[in-house]
Amino acid sequence: MGGGAALALGAGAAHALSEDWLTARGFRPGMPIEGEETTPVEYATAYNNFYEFGTDKDDPARYAHEMTVDPWTVDVAGEVAKPGKLGIEDLLANVDLEERVYRLRCVEAWSMVVPWIGFPVKTLLDRFEPTGAAKFVEFETLHRPDEMRGQRSFFSGIDWPYREALRLDEAYHPLAIFAVGMYGKVLPNQNGAPLRLVVPWKYGFKSIKSIVRIRLTRRRPSTTWNDLQPREYGFYANVNPTVDHPRWSQASERRLPSTLFSPNRIETRMFNGYEEVAPLYADMDLRRNY
Ligand code: MTE
Repeated sequence: MGGGAALALGAGAAHALSEDWLTARGFRPGMPIEGEETTPVEYATAYNNFYEFGTDKDDPARYAHEMTVDPWTVDVAGEVAKPGKLGIEDLLANVDLEERVYRLRCVEAWSMVVPWIGFPVKTLLDRFEPTGAAKFVEFETLHRPDEMRGQRSFFSGIDWPYREALRLDEAYHPLAIFAVGMYGKVLPNQNGAPLRLVVPWKYGFKSIKSIVRIRLTRRRPSTTWNDLQPREYGFYANVNPTVDHPRWSQASERRLPSTLFSPNRIETRMFNGYEEVAPLYADMDLRRNY
């Protein structure tokens, strides 16, 4: 098919994001984090949390190909002047992509350094014109039990779909991004294709994968892990080495790759080292800010 015809077909369609799409779009390269090595891609794409595909770290890499990501639509509703349900390509039509190399700190005390490709959350939300009443933003993952074996499991205990939320001023912080790619390519399914959140100063569970629904709200939405175990997983979930998880310390973390013989333990930093977000929490008691 000629390039022109493909382009015409692409307009208005909800096709998956392909490598060709990313090559055509391009992205502004990011800076590596000084003094920290980027985690090898084979770890970042094989050691995952995506409970929709099972609870073992290798389940997502093994089973996430069963999820259909083409076509993909995202529904944006709630406190917005212009609600809409858009195909993923339309949603990203005028968005400039950039690379951001971020630390990712899981609440389970392991961490990685990942080069994401994405754009600020604000860029997307502004397009739908949040009203003055919008105070929070809620995100929802795809719910499709016939393609997501973890959603068929009676043992997961999770009330699907997976839901996460941010205060609107957190979402509008320039560090908060939506990612569509990593390591120079489009996101693999196990990492949350085709669209996921990345909030680097918060524990990884806030960075919800494979988003299909976004809703701006007046009240604080309920969220999956906070619902399941509020004593262990706070709504804010800011990385905080001084507040332990009830079952383990959060003072340090295992930086991947790590082995029994080379544990690679490093100290955890407040806000995962992204101290510039501190003003967002100026009126909160950080000893309880978990
Ligand atoms: N999003 C969904 N939909 N389902 C999940 O189980 N796990 C979260 C987060 N996003 C999860 C999710 C957790 S606990 C972490 S640590 C990160 O995804 C892991 O992201 P990664 O697998 O890309 O490293």
